[in-house]
Amino acid sequence: MRSFLSIPAFLGCLFAALFSPLRAVGAEGISAEDAQLTTAAVFEFFEAKCNDCHGAHLTRPKGKFGYAMDLKRVAANDEYVVVGDAAKSELFRLVNEDEMPGKDSKVGNASAAEKLALKHWIQIGAPSELPAKLAARQKELLSAKSAAPSPNKASESLLSRLLEWFGRFHAASTHFPIGLLVAAVLSESLGWLTKKESWLNCTRFLVVLGAGGALGTATLGWLNVYAGVSQVYQLHKWLGTATALWALISAGAAIFFECREGTMERARLRAALIVGAALVSAVGFLGGAITFGLDHYKW
Ligand code: HEC
Repeated sequence: MRSFLSIPAFLGCLFAALFSPLRAVGAEGISAEDAQLTTAAVFEFFEAKCNDCHGAHLTRPKGKFGYAMDLKRVAANDEYVVVGDAAKSELFRLVNEDEMPGKDSKVGNASAAEKLALKHWIQIGAPSELPAKLAARQKELLSAKSAAPSPNKASESLLSRLLEWFGRFHAASTHFPIGLLVAAVLSESLGWLTKKESWLNCTRFLVVLGAGGALGTATLGWLNVYAGVSQVYQLHKWLGTATALWALISAGAAIFFECREGTMERARLRAALIVGAALVSAVGFLGGAITFGLDHYKW
């Protein structure tokens, strides 16, 4: 008797569970289907234009951001996404202002439709549920790291890996040209103050060593694998290269000209050394600013 009574109750519950919550309606009245379509559009956009530099398959993803295809994780990072507010989301700003994918990327900027999709995705709450086919693709992409070492890594020759490894010493090697070229100015100042010709030998030694250091550091800088996109990085790269050339010219002037005190040659050498020390300091500062920001020395 008791069990007989409970049947209608059970059916009632089942009915309620299936139909009572207004299913599939999320924030701002967006249906689950719309949300999924938007998520799919963002996923396809990221796979086409971000995954190469920010994918899980990379051992060293750019900007330490290696999970672009993990939309749930992207949405959860409040430094990138302010859920519901695209205008406050750094991720949208980067894409909207064409800072990402960036000038160095082969794929070109995000299209207007892609920007809109990203904006809409953030506005509706940055959902992460994908249609089945894309969900499978996502799984594949996210497990790419454990599956196999990245294919281009495996086929890389020993030589290119070795060169890339040398490149990592770029930052450490900068101390030589900076220290030596600044010390050359000090040595020349003392020569100028004391009028002792012997200081010239010291200056020569420092500027030749400094120029060698600058050449080595610039070479390592070009070997260093860093796909920077910022203007600070570009300026650092080209000003650094120019500084190495300038140091070589200064060293040449110190070696090939007699540079007696009171001559035009000596005055030119002094000017060249001062410009060189200023250049190498500026390049060093910009190098630090790539990592720490331009306001690094702010009080
Ligand atoms: C060609 C390589 C490349 C592509 C493609 C690319 N990025 Fe980047 N991304 C970078 C580099 C390099 C940085 C580091 C920025 C720097 O230090 O100048 C970066 C940094 C970022 C950061 C900031 C990480 C942080 O915490 O500072 C975000 C977010 C980002 N990218 C998003 C994207 C998105 C979204 C896309 C696709 C629309 C994209 N990127 C495509 C190279 C790329």
